[in-house]
Amino acid sequence: MKIKATVLSLLTVSVLAASSSSIANEPVQPISPVKDINLAEVELGKKLFFDPRLSKSGFISCNSCHNLSMGGTDNLKTSIGHKWQQGPINSPTVLNSSLNIAQFWDGRAADLKEQAGGPIANPGEMASTHTLALDVLQSIPAYTTEFKQVFGSREINIDQVTQAIAEFEKTLVTPNSRFDQWLLGNKDAINKTELAGYNLFKKVGCTACHNGQALGGGSFQKMGLVKPYKTANKAEGLSGVTGKDADRFKFKVPTLRNVEMTYPYFHDGEAATLTEAVDVMGQLQLGKKLTGTENAQIVAFLKTLTGEQPSFTLPILPPSVDQTPKPKPFD
Ligand code: HEC
Ligand code: HEC
Repeated sequence: MKIKATVLSLLTVSVLAASSSSIANEPVQPISPVKDINLAEVELGKKLFFDPRLSKSGFISCNSCHNLSMGGTDNLKTSIGHKWQQGPINSPTVLNSSLNIAQFWDGRAADLKEQAGGPIANPGEMASTHTLALDVLQSIPAYTTEFKQVFGSREINIDQVTQAIAEFEKTLVTPNSRFDQWLLGNKDAINKTELAGYNLFKKVGCTACHNGQALGGGSFQKMGLVKPYKTANKAEGLSGVTGKDADRFKFKVPTLRNVEMTYPYFHDGEAATLTEAVDVMGQLQLGKKLTGTENAQIVAFLKTLTGEQPSFTLPILPPSVDQTPKPKPFD
């Protein structure tokens, strides 16, 4: 796996060198393959990401709401938490989340490690406590052995849990989309309509906010910049973190990578289709009503941003033992 990664990055470097001048002028950059990861932490983090025993019910894992078979989301307006509670906000994708300047719609977690501790103890999500989750893991001999191998101590702590999950999440990048192949010099990788869509995307100003490798994730911007956005959702965005009134309704600009897979759209999940999301963006962020043809071109372009989805062997989780605290799905 390490060898494969090196070969891949060497290849990318030489292709980049060949066409670097043209790429450098683009507001969108190709996704870099992962490098510098700790493979042992990744393997452990993968198990934890899929392990529903980190939740009180024994039923909800990170993958329940960030389903890696569905673009790292649940494809619901807002998520379903412990005891079928209605979640307050749409679940963003975990794909390429390592490229975000901060985590959550309002950026309240600085990085993936800080983020990963949240959902386990969130009463509306996995509804466990860090103590209980650690008791569960500590009771399972195969986990204590693996934590010891990876972190060198038999005492499992939450820091190790979130470290391993974050390291696994770093591998969830999606390089080699058709659009990236085009950026890297394969002019046949996208068709005329898709290219027209990209040119329009730049011309009308979408790239002011959706740029870089992830076409988003790099800044907080007001939803409803030109015209106010109407929603019944109570989320107020960045102001909840900074306390500044000027930050009300500023949300982290979502990535547009794999956006064909990550419906429905916006923090409230109210836009069911890409056509609708693009129309709203044109009007509210740029004061521009896109024609049907323009909208279809941009949507065609957005669909070229679907990259290689993470592929790995589904982890087999070590079984609980007699002493393992029992799941409580209905309390
Ligand atoms: C019950 C559904 C649910 C579960 C379970 C869940 N999440 Fe989330 N996740 C969400 C929602 C909803 C948000 C957005 C919350 C917000 O921004 O206020 C989110 C946000 C995130 C983000 C931030 C992404 C971004 O672009 O800002 C990451 C990363 C993430 N979750 C990883 C995890 C991990 C790791 C786990 C398991 C430990 C997990 N989630 C469990 C629903 C869930
Ligand atoms: C001023 C900054 C800004 C501009 C310009 C902008 N966007 Fe956005 N975009 C955002 C923000 C912020 C959100 C998240 C809004 C929310 O969820 O409330 C978003 C969300 C989206 C989404 C939904 C993604 C998801 O996963 O929920 C799509 C699709 C999108 N934008 C496409 C576009 C297109 C196409 C254009 C150009 C017509 C554009 N945007 C222009 C800031 C911007």
